[in-house]
Amino acid sequence: MNAKYISGCTHWSKCPEPGYPEYAFTGRSNVGKSSLINALTGINKLAKISTTPGKTQIINHFLIDEKWYLADLPGYGYAKISKKTREKWGPMIREFLTRRENLMTTFVLIDSRLEPQKIDLEFIDWLGENNIPLALIFTKADKCKKKELAQNVDIVMKKLSDSWEELPSHVVTSSETGQGLDDLLSFIAGVNRLWKGRP
Ligand code: GTP
Ligand code: MG
Repeated sequence: MNAKYISGCTHWSKCPEPGYPEYAFTGRSNVGKSSLINALTGINKLAKISTTPGKTQIINHFLIDEKWYLADLPGYGYAKISKKTREKWGPMIREFLTRRENLMTTFVLIDSRLEPQKIDLEFIDWLGENNIPLALIFTKADKCKKKELAQNVDIVMKKLSDSWEELPSHVVTSSETGQGLDDLLSFIAGVNRLWKGRP
């Protein structure tokens, strides 16, 4: 796979020309967005990762195989980032997700070790209310026992079925073991076929 870093931006209008189908990685800080981008592309230091939440602070675009964009977004819900910075991030992410015209799917990454977090469910509902197509990615599957993992996925899907008529697609991944990466890539390849050129 060919992948290159294009640019970082803090406003949707300053992002690269929307000439390719695009996929955004969103989710709480530290859930593993940047790690998954590195694992998917097979390039270790493509996206910057950190054990400290709040590493990614701008919207970073990567062009994959000269065919589609991956956008690595800052995480939400991290208390230790200054309030001022946090107040800027929310609108930046929300505006990007509602305005970016080539966005095909917004992936919401969820830590598969945890029960559903209120902030994730609220964010998913917000995407739904705004008609933004989404899919779920459960991360860090290597850190979770098989049974526990299946249970946690089940709980999240059940919770969502309270408010959603049709459940979003989901894939279980690990950036450590590579689990689920092929499934994720074939999902993206399938959606790429729906791209009809720049809107
Ligand atoms: P922000 O940029 O702060 O929003 O975080 P992020 O979601 O981009 O998380 P990042 O990729 O920086 O990873 C956070 C931490 O989780 C790092 O210490 C990673 O090594 C670890 N991590 C990410 N994915 C996995 C995984 O699949 N398995 C394991 N075991 N650890 C992971
Ligand atoms: Mg990151």
